[in-house]
Amino acid sequence: MKETFEQNKLIAGIDCQRCHGPAAEHVDYHTKHPTEKEAHAIQKVRGLSRQQQLDMCALCHSGLKPMLQPAFRFKPGDALADFLMPTAPFPAKSMDVHGNQYQLLSASKCFSGSQQMTCGSCHNTHTNERDNMQVFSQRCMSCHAAGSPDFCTLKNVPAATLQQNCIDCHMPAMPSSAITLLTNGQQSPTPDSIRTHLIAIYK
Ligand code: HEC
Ligand code: HEC
Ligand code: HEC
Ligand code: HEC
Ligand code: HEC
Repeated sequence: MKETFEQNKLIAGIDCQRCHGPAAEHVDYHTKHPTEKEAHAIQKVRGLSRQQQLDMCALCHSGLKPMLQPAFRFKPGDALADFLMPTAPFPAKSMDVHGNQYQLLSASKCFSGSQQMTCGSCHNTHTNERDNMQVFSQRCMSCHAAGSPDFCTLKNVPAATLQQNCIDCHMPAMPSSAITLLTNGQQSPTPDSIRTHLIAIYK
């Protein structure tokens, strides 16, 4: 399967239409009806099922797999299984943190236990929240509220300290086996480190 696209129509980068679908008709309608506040001719993300919302992110965040159709043809609402060969659940040992957030997350107890978690449970794709561990920790506490039986069971650390940063303990940055860096004077390459999406207890 070869990826094809019309070069003169390609917008570089991850633009709005990659996640919101074709929008020419939408733009056309609202240009002609500037006072209309109800969205026309556009797929609303919140109107999609949990699996559809996961699939629209997993198109690019579930690792390299054999393609069944060109990825550029994918629209939000489509089933990922029609585009990428589904992979069998992989054994924990062979997991690489690189680029496969979807499979790692779906192997987590948070994901299977909650029946509702999507990428949007923690990520607001329209805002740059990089490195803001307090914001991400708040997202954890929407299910693991402080003072509730679902909160962290680690003893001898004050709850106020735990609340600052759930992430470094339960989603530690780990070495990628796909991306390495060889700098001047180094004998062997250093792997890049990436956040694992396998939420678990790491000792
Ligand atoms: C990486 C994927 C991604 C990209 C790129 C993206 N969005 Fe979104 N957008 C989302 C998600 C996910 C939501 C739903 C958030 C939520 O649940 O509140 C959303 C919500 C919205 C909404 C609210 C209506 C709705 O569908 O829920 C608007 C309007 C919107 N986006 C416009 C834009 C525009 C304009 C751009 C380009 C400048 C853009 N988006 C780029 C993922 C994306
Ligand atoms: C068309 C491909 C594509 C789609 C669809 C897509 N992404 Fe991405 N995403 C990327 C690329 C490429 C990067 C940049 C990777 C990098 O910088 O290492 C990225 C980066 C990210 C980052 C890291 C941003 C940062 O700077 O910390 C997050 C979080 C993310 N994507 C979440 C999502 C979510 C959630 C969705 C679904 C709503 C989504 N992406 C859909 C391609 C995509
Ligand atoms: C949508 C709700 C939800 C969110 C958000 C959430 N979790 Fe969970 N989490 C759960 C559920 C449900 C379980 C499973 C409880 C069980 O089976 O007893 C769980 C289990 C866990 C476990 C136990 C894992 C194991 O292997 O034993 C840890 C640790 C955890 N969560 C930490 C976190 C952290 C850290 C975050 C934020 C990065 C987070 N959770 C976000 C719902 C959630
Ligand atoms: C339970 C919370 C949670 C969920 C759900 C979640 N993420 Fe993340 N993600 C994080 C945290 C925390 C980081 C680290 C952010 C940072 O370092 O600034 C992160 C980082 C990332 C990055 C950047 C990786 C890196 O190390 O540079 C990407 C890409 C990403 N997430 C994609 C996704 C996708 C796709 C989904 C859905 C399949 C998803 N995430 C679901 C919490 C979550
Ligand atoms: C300093 C590291 C650290 C921090 C910070 C931390 N945890 Fe934990 N967490 C642990 C360890 C270690 C355990 C296992 C404790 C035990 O069972 O003795 C644990 C246990 C848990 C459990 C229970 C898992 C189970 O089912 O047994 C949950 C849920 C959890 N943490 C969520 C969180 C959340 C949410 C935050 C942020 C508010 C957080 N943790 C902050 C290290 C940490």
